[in-house]
Amino acid sequence: MNNTIQLSIEDYISRGLHRKCYRHPNDPNKCIKVNYNVGAEDETNREISYYKHLIRRNVSFDAIAKYYGPVSTNYGKGHVFQLIRDYTGEIAIPLEKYLADTKLTKQYYDDLVTSLRNLKSALLKDRIITMTIKSKNILFQHLSADNRRLIIIDNIGNSTLIPIANYIPFFAKAKIERTWQRFLTSIIKENSNNKLITRLVDEVNQ
Ligand SMILES: Nc1ncnc2c1ncn2[C@@H]1O[C@H](COP(=O)(O)OP(=O)(O)OP(=O)(O)O)[C@@H](O)[C@H]1O
Ligand SMILES: [Mg+2]
Repeated sequence: MNNTIQLSIEDYISRGLHRKCYRHPNDPNKCIKVNYNVGAEDETNREISYYKHLIRRNVSFDAIAKYYGPVSTNYGKGHVFQLIRDYTGEIAIPLEKYLADTKLTKQYYDDLVTSLRNLKSALLKDRIITMTIKSKNILFQHLSADNRRLIIIDNIGNSTLIPIANYIPFFAKAKIERTWQRFLTSIIKENSNNKLITRLVDEVNQ
């Protein structure tokens, strides 16, 4: 097992409910996600098999982080993804933070509206199906001092047993629309003390 990647506490970035995310020790633009609890495996396998489907379809990965394949690590099996960094080198911060803080919402208001619209268009263009879209699983990436975008890093794929939406564009688009509207409703609800969010969502929908 000499090609096992040795991860350490210094490589640790963050974790969600299922996976821990580490910097790739040999590539500053990649990260490695490792499952750390029971139940994580099903979700990870679903996401990876959907990523393989998207790679076969040759989509452009404007809306979601790229996937590079499995690796073996000292913490168990891992999966390598594109690590989303700002142009400053900092790891990009979730949209959740920008919506929870009125000052940040105000500062980036126009960019948030535009990048939310662009994210939806990119999902529709490539017909990318996601599970529930959550603002904690979308990063607001600063590409330069005045260019920003949103990119989804988690919960990609379709949980349906017979994923008709993976193959029939009409069903894919309908599913993306539904998931997107639920996402917009959720950000209003989660940020009820931020008065700017309702207006922001209205503008996104215009
Ligand atoms: N591609 C990435 N680029 C930068 N940071 C990332 C990336 N992927 C994950 N992270 C960071 O690691 C955290 C955990 O990763 P992820 O959301 O994939 O885990 P999870 O357990 O599947 O989450 P959830 O609880 O939403 O199911 C993220 O919230 C984010 O802070
Ligand atoms: Mg997550």
